[in-house]
Amino acid sequence: MTDASATAPAYTGPRRILSGIQASGALHLGNYLGALKRFTALQDSGAPCFLFVADLHAITVWQDPALLAAQTREIAAAYIASGLDPAKSTIFPQSAVRAHAELAWILNCVARLGWLDRMTQFKEKSGKHKERASVGLYTYPVLQAADILLYKATEVPVGEDQKQHLELTRDIAGKFNTDFNAPGYFPLPEPLIQGPATRVMSLRDGAAKMSKSDPSDQSRINLTDDADTIASKIRKSKTDMGVMPEPGEGLDDRPEVKNLIAIYAALSDRTREEITAEFAGQGFGAFKPALADLAVSSLAPVTAEMRRLMDDPAEIDRVLRDGAERAAGIADPVIAEVKKIVGFWQA
Ligand code: TYM
Repeated sequence: MTDASATAPAYTGPRRILSGIQASGALHLGNYLGALKRFTALQDSGAPCFLFVADLHAITVWQDPALLAAQTREIAAAYIASGLDPAKSTIFPQSAVRAHAELAWILNCVARLGWLDRMTQFKEKSGKHKERASVGLYTYPVLQAADILLYKATEVPVGEDQKQHLELTRDIAGKFNTDFNAPGYFPLPEPLIQGPATRVMSLRDGAAKMSKSDPSDQSRINLTDDADTIASKIRKSKTDMGVMPEPGEGLDDRPEVKNLIAIYAALSDRTREEITAEFAGQGFGAFKPALADLAVSSLAPVTAEMRRLMDDPAEIDRVLRDGAERAAGIADPVIAEVKKIVGFWQA
């Protein structure tokens, strides 16, 4: 892949922030700290925010049709409960704006097989039997590029695991602009991978990402966990025989401790250095209860609001309908323009 940013003329359109979360259920602390809390922090940054529920992406692996709509509402509830204001931010289901699928097809014809062959997330998700994976799982990152470019998004807040998909998006944008002689048409979006918790790790294994696909529920804090469960998971989280590190101490050989400090820092909006300075030399018997209290007090209002919203699906549906209409207002003119650029017949 080449980085098209070196040669392409700059995009001159307005700033727009966009991100998405899959509608595959079971949000965890990694999603909250790496994505939801970051989105909320960006809401008043001066650029409009577009946040969608990636239901088209969710079906790249099997989803029970009887549950999918409820899963979509649950992610929408998480956006709102995390502090996003539907009047300011556009919250919508991806499948409700049909231009996502249309642009994805066009970009499938721009992206190269060799580029997709390098995607590590496909390799991880398809496992040993890639011939049994859906074709959608393979072209997943192209749909992601379409999500972003359809809104000409300039900034995309995500966790670290999405970095490669964002690089691919930039390559696809650059190639489209070059192939169709449309310099600067699509922006080359910047990934915003920021804060102390861009990669929250499992509570049981500091080498594995916190993930909904981990078979051990003890490995993650779910946004649906109650206070006792959260506290117990943190109490039982893996650490080591040492004490809390001194400021400046390297932690690469203590990944579990590093992870807990990062979680504390992200939850309290402080830096890792501040947290290390506060707890230096203390045992985990002091640190873990402090972290458990912090996690419970930070997550309790979010989970309570999520539950309240889930009990009122009509309110969520209003937000999603309104968001889809506003999103289509941006997306429809862009897809019409793209079709013209590609040269499709027009009436
Ligand atoms: P998804 O649903 O897997 O994850 C949603 C967001 O949560 C972040 N995340 C984490 N951050 C820190 N630590 C973790 N352990 C952790 N696990 C997940 C992810 O990085 C992501 O930001 N492909 C996207 C969905 C998507 C999208 C898009 C995102 C579809 N189209 C366009 C941005 C722009 C995904 O896998 O989300």
